[in-house]
Amino acid sequence: MGRAPILPSKIIWLLSYVITIHAFHDILSPAHHISAGHYRENTRKMHLDKVTFSQHDSTFRPPSPIRRPSLATPTTALLKTTPSTSVSTVLSGVAGAREYHVITYGADPTGKNDSTDAILGAIADAVQGPGHGELMKGILNLGGVRINLDGGIYKISRPLRLPVAGRGNLVIHGGTLKASDDFPKDGYLIDLSASSKLEYIYEFVTLRDLLLDSNYRGGAIQVVDSLRTSIDNCYITHFTTTGINVQGGHETYIRNCYLGQHITAGADPGERDFSGTAIILNGNDNAVTDVVIFSAATGIVIEGQANTLSGVHCYNKATGFGGVGVYLKVPGLTQTRIVNCYLDYTGIVAEDPVQLHISSSFFLGDAFILLRSVNGIANGINIVDNMFSGSDKDIDIVQLDEKSCKFKNVKQVIVDRNNAKGMNMKSTIARGTVEGNNSSWMVDLSRDLLFPNLIRSVQYSLQPTGDQFPNHALRSVTDNRVVITTDVVVPASVTVTVDQ
Ligand SMILES: *[C@@H]1O[C@H](CO)[C@@H](O)[C@H](O)[C@H]1NC(C)=O
Ligand SMILES: *[C@@H]1O[C@H](CO)[C@@H](O)[C@H](O)[C@H]1NC(C)=O
Ligand SMILES: *[C@@H]1O[C@H](CO)[C@@H](O)[C@H](O)[C@H]1NC(C)=O
Repeated sequence: MGRAPILPSKIIWLLSYVITIHAFHDILSPAHHISAGHYRENTRKMHLDKVTFSQHDSTFRPPSPIRRPSLATPTTALLKTTPSTSVSTVLSGVAGAREYHVITYGADPTGKNDSTDAILGAIADAVQGPGHGELMKGILNLGGVRINLDGGIYKISRPLRLPVAGRGNLVIHGGTLKASDDFPKDGYLIDLSASSKLEYIYEFVTLRDLLLDSNYRGGAIQVVDSLRTSIDNCYITHFTTTGINVQGGHETYIRNCYLGQHITAGADPGERDFSGTAIILNGNDNAVTDVVIFSAATGIVIEGQANTLSGVHCYNKATGFGGVGVYLKVPGLTQTRIVNCYLDYTGIVAEDPVQLHISSSFFLGDAFILLRSVNGIANGINIVDNMFSGSDKDIDIVQLDEKSCKFKNVKQVIVDRNNAKGMNMKSTIARGTVEGNNSSWMVDLSRDLLFPNLIRSVQYSLQPTGDQFPNHALRSVTDNRVVITTDVVVPASVTVTVDQ
């Protein structure tokens, strides 16, 4: 923890001060919240002590009696007269305190009254500073300032935006935001965008422990041209457009989140009509880690490079109903890694993939990977070490969509070492054996190989079962059928291994 020890006498002094301020603060309107500058001088010393307290996640708590037995009695006794929310309210009103509680700005935590202005007020005060130098050029470091939703549910009628660009190191956390019935249908509950000439508008904004309910009006979070945005432990639902929309910028990390248009746990009778997209990553170097997408037409759309998905469970909408788990819309330069994911009745679509790695993932319910040709390019693809499970409907684990154009530029594609149960295995490496008494042997690998009529290399062995030594040669690989011939009729077995 690394906290400085606090003397008991100081604690008692602090708490009595806090209670005094509390009485005073009650008569202040939210507008006075920060402008009460006369606190500043008097409380400079106290601020130093308070900082050690406010390192807790949210509301003020006395030091634990277990860790600090000598403090247990006085602090508990004092707190009994002061509800903990009031204590935290007071702390947020102290000059220098950097946690802004939206309730103190008049937000209604019951979700009945519109809280948009109140929360925007808290945000406006939070982002005004003081700053602690810059992060990236032009980004004021707010030092970790927090906007605390105090565990309430708030009705919002307009997107929550920061009033200025160029801010970083702030946290919005701990409650529920719900769009009102007149929320703009193209809006996002939290919208990290602004018109600005800065290369990055915001840096290190953390959105954590939030339930975002778009009330079937628009989306939940938008992040535009921002750097190092962290979206952690959020539950995002009832969106009609996009749950989380990342446009430009770098390194938005989405972790431990649940996203679904409708609240369901699978096999929903309305699944056919699910719409919207849970996550759009239209930028580079983002990560989605340990995220569940439980309903949406499309789980994740990727439109930038060097993004990675790990531990993502998509059961947003079955492929059979038109759903897509992960849609890689970056033809020609994909650079995407998908590892340790669970595609549950819904698959992956990749347009002209160039550098795509899919491994250690589980595809259930006839879910498959579709490589869609746009300009016929497939280059640098690893689809290895995955498991596929289906229902004996003759569905290939990896498929090609060549409706608009054939794949004509295929290089470095490896589909291998997967296993399939109740689905057809497809690979770029295949092997087969035929036996017969003949001068010609044909090994048909067209069912196993992914690309039609494409064999780059062949290895074969011809093993006569008699004592003859025939001359033999590879004659043809057309249509993924390998033909070996001998100069005389011999009983033999021929084994072929090919690579596309
Ligand atoms: C909600 O609004 C009503 C009417 O303006 C007001 O009387 C009430 O105090 C508000 N409730 C909260 C919790 O702000
Ligand atoms: C293989 O075929 C040839 C010609 O038809 C025949 O003479 C020979 O007996 C056959 N050998 C075996 C092992 O069946
Ligand atoms: C040799 O194989 C071809 C097909 O690959 C078949 O048509 C032919 O009958 C076979 N010949 C003998 C002698 O079995």
